[in-house]
Amino acid sequence: MKLLLLLPAFFTMNADADKKAVLQVLETKCNYCHRVANPYRVFNRKNMDTNAADIYQQVFVKKRMPMGDGNPLSEQEQTMIKSWVSAVRNN
Ligand code: HEC
Repeated sequence: MKLLLLLPAFFTMNADADKKAVLQVLETKCNYCHRVANPYRVFNRKNMDTNAADIYQQVFVKKRMPMGDGNPLSEQEQTMIKSWVSAVRNN
């Protein structure tokens, strides 16, 4: 019974850690450019969830982002972003 009560807390903590890691990726692979080239879309903790669907479209469907080939996403980073997007969708 105690364990069941702790489970939601565990998943929340996990989701939090994932979100932090994804923000780190957005910061290093996206924001460095957006800050200069697309300042209305600099991702942060507050706005990233609202941008999740657009990010998914641009990165995985249209494959337009990250723009330029200087700083591509690693497989691991792509996996992290995908799982965060699906977590946001299921909320
Ligand atoms: C080298 C520059 C650069 C990098 C790196 C970059 N972007 Fe962009 N991004 C742009 C520019 C410029 C625009 C606005 C013009 C456009 O959409 O082509 C844009 C637009 C967008 C848009 C809005 C597009 C739309 O029409 O709805 C999203 C979402 C986006 N970027 C996500 C990302 C994500 C996620 C990353 C990192 C994985 C990233 N971008 C990396 C330059 C960049």
